[in-house]
Amino acid sequence: MAQLHALCFETPRPWSAQEFADLQDMPGVIYEGTTTGFILGRVAGPEAELLTIAVTPTTRGVGLGRQLVQSYHAQAKAAGAIESFLEVAADNTPAISLYAGSGYIQAGKRPRYYRAQDGQTIDAFVFSCNLTT
Ligand SMILES: CC(C)(COP(=O)(O)OP(=O)(O)OC[C@H]1O[C@@H](n2cnc3c(N)ncnc32)[C@H](O)[C@@H]1OP(=O)(O)O)[C@@H](O)C(=O)NCCC(=O)NCCS
Repeated sequence: MAQLHALCFETPRPWSAQEFADLQDMPGVIYEGTTTGFILGRVAGPEAELLTIAVTPTTRGVGLGRQLVQSYHAQAKAAGAIESFLEVAADNTPAISLYAGSGYIQAGKRPRYYRAQDGQTIDAFVFSCNLTT
């Protein structure tokens, strides 16, 4: 996961193998994936959080990301969640389109939430998705 994440992220920075190991030890974790892409989330009571999603650059645009989000939603619902939340960088057009097409709407904004390697700050959008409809 850390290797794939490093191929997919600059801002926010990619997560280390240790960070993924620590996350997978937490209760309520949801994982779905293959060598070409994965999604990681977490359920706590009625709320789910989509923590990260990554699809290798060479296999993008053929529906893998959408399938991963659908699988995460199915697992989150099965675990009792009724709403899913996530944060996405305001300039991440592919991810925002994926989320909008998967039922997410903007629920908030965190100004200057991410800092790029050049020091520039980027807003984060908070998105939510009702899992009961
Ligand atoms: C975001 C990401 C997971 C999408 O994965 P993907 O497998 O390419 O997505 P899909 O092929 O399932 O496409 C689903 C939808 O996403 C949107 N999308 C995907 N690539 C896009 C692009 N380059 N530009 C605009 N929209 C795009 C479209 O709405 C698409 O629906 P459509 O095919 O009906 O038009 C992938 O680009 C990625 O890994 N990016 C780097 C990591 C990242 O930014 N993760 C999200 C952090 S919040």
